[in-house]
Amino acid sequence: MQKPIQFQVIPAQRLSQADLQSIQDLCTRAYGEDVWCDYEYLKAAYHVVGRDAGVIVSHALWVNRSLSVNCAAPLMTAYVEYVATEPTLQGQGLASQLLRFLLNYIQNQEAIHAELDFAPPYQLAALAPAESQFYERLGWELWQGDLYIRQQGDLIPTPDDDVMIFRLTTTPEISTTDDLSAEWREGELW
Ligand SMILES: CC(C)(COP(=O)(O)OP(=O)(O)OC[C@H]1O[C@@H](n2cnc3c(N)ncnc32)[C@H](O)[C@@H]1OP(=O)(O)O)[C@@H](O)C(=O)NCCC(=O)NCCS
Repeated sequence: MQKPIQFQVIPAQRLSQADLQSIQDLCTRAYGEDVWCDYEYLKAAYHVVGRDAGVIVSHALWVNRSLSVNCAAPLMTAYVEYVATEPTLQGQGLASQLLRFLLNYIQNQEAIHAELDFAPPYQLAALAPAESQFYERLGWELWQGDLYIRQQGDLIPTPDDDVMIFRLTTTPEISTTDDLSAEWREGELW
């Protein structure tokens, strides 16, 4: 039987110092090293926490990014990072549940508007996987085409990165064999 976990979305600006510390500690235990970086863009992140008896046992966050296929009009993208489950509770479906919750949430325009005060609808979800198989099982697709970062009008190729996408009900017809670009940001480009 799956654990009864409560999922909740908390914008970074409203995250308590204690919850932030719990998330950082959870990521350190899950990844086996301190992976947390204080990048500026994380201040605008939305954290998704899964709690068991009040304790954060699973986590992911998303940040808003602008992804473009073949340089077409950018797609408002929920870009997912820091996916982690408490090591002693891994393999019980927590991260799968949490990611399904996240994907449902970002497609629930009413909840987004009411709880996050955020208007434009998401058109895509994406992430850079350490291992793609875990996400593939959940319906994410590995991008096959070339990846680029857009910077001051230039397209910088990033051939060493892997990116996966998840098609939302609002995602236009796109092919994963085309070119995909994201705006430049400080820190991890993808
Ligand atoms: C990846 C992670 C978040 C999965 O969390 P979880 O709560 O155990 O996930 P679930 O229980 O929903 O799913 C587990 C399943 O995914 C599989 N899985 C987990 N990590 C995997 C990986 N790196 N590659 C392939 N499959 C993986 C497990 O084998 C398990 O399969 P099973 O159900 O057939 O046994 C967790 O293992 C973790 O925190 N890992 C360290 C941090 C990390 O790598 N994060 C992802 C970075 S992109």
